[in-house]
Amino acid sequence: MKYAMATTTREPPNAKKIPLFPLLSLLCFTSIFLILSQFRNTSSTSSTSRSSSLRTFQIDSSSCDYTDGTWIHDAPGKPRYDNTCKEIFKGWNCISANKSNAQQLATWRWKPHRCDLPQFDPLAFLENHRHVSIGFVGDSLNRNMFVSLFCTLKSVSSGQVKKWRPVGADRGFTFLSHNLTIAYHRTNLLARYGRWSANQNGGALESLGFKEGYRIDVDVPESTWAQAPSFHDILIFNTGHWWWAPSKFDPVKSPMLFFKKGQPVLPPLPPDQGLDMALEHMIAYVEERARPGTVKFFRTQSPRHFEGGDWDQGGSCQRDKPLSTEQVEEVFSVKNNGTNVEVRLVNGHLYKALKGSTFIVLDITHLSEFRADAHPAAAGGKKHDDCMHWCLPGLTDTWNDLFVTHLNSVKGRS
Ligand SMILES: *[C@@H]1O[C@H](CO)[C@@H](O)[C@H](O)[C@H]1NC(C)=O
Ligand SMILES: *[C@@H]1O[C@H](CO)[C@@H](O)[C@H](O)[C@H]1NC(C)=O
Ligand SMILES: *[C@@H]1O[C@H](CO)[C@@H](O)[C@H](O)[C@H]1NC(C)=O
Repeated sequence: MKYAMATTTREPPNAKKIPLFPLLSLLCFTSIFLILSQFRNTSSTSSTSRSSSLRTFQIDSSSCDYTDGTWIHDAPGKPRYDNTCKEIFKGWNCISANKSNAQQLATWRWKPHRCDLPQFDPLAFLENHRHVSIGFVGDSLNRNMFVSLFCTLKSVSSGQVKKWRPVGADRGFTFLSHNLTIAYHRTNLLARYGRWSANQNGGALESLGFKEGYRIDVDVPESTWAQAPSFHDILIFNTGHWWWAPSKFDPVKSPMLFFKKGQPVLPPLPPDQGLDMALEHMIAYVEERARPGTVKFFRTQSPRHFEGGDWDQGGSCQRDKPLSTEQVEEVFSVKNNGTNVEVRLVNGHLYKALKGSTFIVLDITHLSEFRADAHPAAAGGKKHDDCMHWCLPGLTDTWNDLFVTHLNSVKGRS
């Protein structure tokens, strides 16, 4: 337990008040409490920059680098959907919550330096994806992106939408006019996990003094998405935030205990090394199970924007316009080791695991780093500012533009 740290458990104060979204509200409070210090202390990642090897296998790397650009304040300003879209989680509905800049969020446009990132056309998208099924697999940040896609399509679709839960999904919808399905599979770690307690008859972990924790099977996918790779035609994965959520995975009271082939991994690993193992196995699992022709994306880490302290130290995000390039480097550079430094560190693990895979990396990190103005902040309705999720309509609409752009270029080549 060399890596164990004295971190106290913080229960999210309001979590129990929202029974429909227990995990979600837990995430709001706790996984924003990414344990940066663990990352800093144990991460072996030296890759700090977003400009990494991943570009070598990005579909469009030869023609355009979509990650390199600036936000321009000239967009038409009309959100592609409004606050009446039923799928928008209350804490993300910044227009309904009267966040002062909620209506302005859509007036910013991401301009890559050497090309354009067009706003995707939802009608054309429906037409081009008849009889197609799209699965989002990941944590609440992937749900945020899923909701953006749903609301955008819903705003132009006059036909019926069937609500259902394909193969373990948390929620899913089929646009019956086009038989296009989109689904969200909830999973925090991708790998299966559950409570672990010491066995009275002893064992390897018991003899090392472990009494309670979470067993994480790095080579077993969580059941919520295990069938997703063979079901969907297009998949978008993410993980990251929960790997450093010590109010759940307390390094002392309830540490992550990694298992492989049903046996504990010895010596026990710190979370960042467990993440490497889980990613390796989960990526291999998807590569094996997905049908030929399935388009697989892995989304990079979404940045948080806590200023003046972390989420539980009164940190907030009260800006009303995007950060400058200089500010972005100041806030996120690994060298500066600031409150939100984890985003580029997480990406180091993702890039390493995805290298050589057939996944397309959906690199939303750098363009999102500018958008300190686009979180719900106090409009999230919580005791603490939410500087982790994104207002809807808002930034994840641009993530979907990038997703569709990549998707079209894959199709254009085949
Ligand atoms: C980064 O800062 C944290 C405190 O905020 C500290 O515990 C940690 O040691 C620092 N890491 C590095 C690599 O400087
Ligand atoms: C937002 O403003 C409207 C109009 O002033 C008001 O009716 C509504 O209660 C406000 N909503 C919140 C969540 O404050
Ligand atoms: C609808 O699309 C799915 C694939 O997503 C396909 O399996 C199914 O046969 C389609 N249904 C109809 C009625 O065409």
